[in-house]
Amino acid sequence: MRTRLLQDPADAAAVLRDGGLCAIPTETVYGLAARADAADAVRRVFKAKGRPGDNPLIVHLGDAGEADGVAHVTDVGRALLDAFAPGPLTVVLPARPGLPPGVTAGLDTAAVRVPAAPLALAVLGATGPLVAPSANRSGRPSPTTWQAVVDDLDGRIDAVLQGPPTDVGIESTVVDATGETPLVLRPGAVTLDALRELFPDARTVDAGAEAARRSPGVRHRHYAPRARVRLVTSADRAEPAPEAAWIGLSEPPRGYAQATVCDDADDYARRLFDAFRRADRAGLGRIDAEVVPEVGIGVALMDRLRRAAQA
Ligand code: TXA
Ligand code: MG
Repeated sequence: MRTRLLQDPADAAAVLRDGGLCAIPTETVYGLAARADAADAVRRVFKAKGRPGDNPLIVHLGDAGEADGVAHVTDVGRALLDAFAPGPLTVVLPARPGLPPGVTAGLDTAAVRVPAAPLALAVLGATGPLVAPSANRSGRPSPTTWQAVVDDLDGRIDAVLQGPPTDVGIESTVVDATGETPLVLRPGAVTLDALRELFPDARTVDAGAEAARRSPGVRHRHYAPRARVRLVTSADRAEPAPEAAWIGLSEPPRGYAQATVCDDADDYARRLFDAFRRADRAGLGRIDAEVVPEVGIGVALMDRLRRAAQA
């Protein structure tokens, strides 16, 4: 298959309406989009990514009002969508029957999200609901540029909509809204503190059994470059080497093959996955990643860094 590079969201929408697979930019990461109502297209998404069949997909909507078409919108879910959509938030709700089986991966819930990126909204406005997992090969870091999508999926999907690098750089906050209070399954740019302004009892799912049951994605290897990721507490702990890369807020000592020095935690989140991929392209064996305080986006950033370091 030849993967077409597109500039016009109308062309991307045409590919998708025909049942094709097209990667699109969102404000978090690039997503591999397909019609949420087409079982065959949904199956092809799993195949193109090499995604385990037990990991459900997020249904992306052009407008929060469309959520009722795929899910039973709970009061908690409604409040979250009112407050944070469009934006980097995914809400898990009781599913309506009739979705293609791959969308829910056999669960009785469906995840919905209204992305904020103008290109994504332009596509969604012309297609209706789209599934869109991150547009990487399963297990690789999520793509924050269209070039990263091409590196992973060239020849496996119909098209890529070329947009700017993504703004947030890490995936959306996933919140279970099936119960009385929101439960964070995956931290992201919408922070627990922001959720607690609406729901003081909001909490993050406990690691272990509860997480595995409610959040299939956490069972799988994630966000990992080929290089080994080592967490370092400060530049004093740096070990520069010609086969190593550095990423962090501090200036490292000389001697790293690549050094990414970020302005703040937001900038770090924005640049992290691209730095992982750049180290892999250069064949480096190690990435030293400086830890950040776990406040604001720092919580999500440390979640991704720890997963990468465990892999
Ligand atoms: O920012 C994002 O969310 C990006 C962009 C493209 O929108 N998408 C994304 O999709 O990260 P993906 O498939 O890579 O991650 C979706 C996460 C997985 O951890 C999955 O297990 C979880 O959401 N998820 C999806 N449906 C779920 C459900 N019904 N219940 C619990 N978790 C669910
Ligand atoms: Mg993903």
